[in-house]
Amino acid sequence: MAETTRTATLTIDGQSYELPIHAPSAGPDVIDITKLYGTAGVFTHDPGFTSTSACESKITFIDGDKGELLHRGYPIDQLAEKSHYLEVCYLLLYGSLPTAAELEHFEHTITHHTMIHEQMHNFFRGFRRDAHPMATMVGVVGAMSAFYHDSTDINDERQREIASHRLIAKMPTIAAMAYKYSIGQPFVYPRNDLDYASNFLRMCFAVPAQEYVVDPILSRAMDRIFTLHADHEQNASTSTVRLASSSGANPFACIAAGIACLWGPAHGGANQACLEMLKEIGSPNRIPEFIERAKDKNDPFRLMGFGHRVYKNFDPRATVMKQSADEVLDLLGIDNNPLLRIAKELEQIAVNDEYFIEKKLFPNVDFYSGIILEAMGFPTAMFTPIFAVSRTVGWISQWKEQLADPAMKIGRPRQLYTGETARDYVEIENR
Ligand code: SDX
Repeated sequence: MAETTRTATLTIDGQSYELPIHAPSAGPDVIDITKLYGTAGVFTHDPGFTSTSACESKITFIDGDKGELLHRGYPIDQLAEKSHYLEVCYLLLYGSLPTAAELEHFEHTITHHTMIHEQMHNFFRGFRRDAHPMATMVGVVGAMSAFYHDSTDINDERQREIASHRLIAKMPTIAAMAYKYSIGQPFVYPRNDLDYASNFLRMCFAVPAQEYVVDPILSRAMDRIFTLHADHEQNASTSTVRLASSSGANPFACIAAGIACLWGPAHGGANQACLEMLKEIGSPNRIPEFIERAKDKNDPFRLMGFGHRVYKNFDPRATVMKQSADEVLDLLGIDNNPLLRIAKELEQIAVNDEYFIEKKLFPNVDFYSGIILEAMGFPTAMFTPIFAVSRTVGWISQWKEQLADPAMKIGRPRQLYTGETARDYVEIENR
């Protein structure tokens, strides 16, 4: 546990309670209320966890005011430029950048876990062809616990390690299979002579009728998108994985729960929703109409790809993603992409609008990613599965960290109850 530097005094009805304050290595101080209910008989109330630290972690740190994102201390812009996804996976899992030998061994391990049990192919055929790939992924990943019994014992460190490698390695294969199934094309097996991103692109876009040659530009862009989405502190889906894991559930069930949570349009589903919004806007002259709708309290419409619980200046991932969008579209010869033009115009108008400035709403990681993914040939339904592929290492790293925490207990929040107090049953004839 972090060092306790001083205490906070809470006074209720003249009675004072001393609460320890923990000093983090970065970020706000944390008031420890673990013993508050036991000593003062009161709960704290924070439904969206806007002011609540749910755990101690050493993996990722975000400074929302500075627009800073650190993975084990390394800034995301440096990792996006100088590193690559599997090296970032090693960093998140083990806490330090690997030596050349460590990286080679890790990449070899992951590469040789990319196939899935052949019998799992049957799961896909149980879905309608038009099922959303996220529905397929939730189902197939959850079903992994029915196939990989030798890596479900969370109390066995070696099994935790194997489950981690299997999930990181097999997610691209499962996501690609979900895509192939949805378009009626045959599954493409992974290849051990390809890097992670290239393998994923080939499994998505290769067909038996001809050789698929991986475009290094697309592969680099794909790898960078994986890197930018790898982990992000205690976001909704990571918190879901941690809560599921706190009951002792096996890793495949926990990751399936994370995929389900990520699917929501307020979270990982925003990249799909954002691109669909840009298409609905259709042209720059309709932008003011949508800006007004986003500001209208009576209209549930929100500007997808804007806003963030933590970032209140800018999302550093969006900055890198915007640069990538320019590069990828340029290198693909897709200049003057209408959606990119609308996105840039929308961003300019929104970030200079009083409402968005006052509410501190800026483009987040989902604002530009969809434009790149669509340019690469992915349908919008594949945007969130790609996010899930990338985020698996973050979920797994946080899952491993929580299991290793001696202070870990089952997560069991309390509530502010405002329902009926005790009353007697009324027979139906007397109602
Ligand atoms: C991700 O947590 C993470 O780290 C997530 C993520 C990760 O890597 O794991 O970063 C990935 O999920 C990014 C966010 C993707 N979602 C979207 O782009 C969907 C659109 N954005 C919102 O729904 C919203 O901004 C959230 C969900 C992202 C954040 O919501 P909060 O922090 O709960 O903020 P809020 O809903 O309390 O909004 C504050 C105010 C509100 O107005 P008031 O009630 O104060 O008058 O800002 C308004 C909101 O109405 N607002 C928006 C808006 N987002 C917030 N108004 C218009 N458009 C928006 N997008």
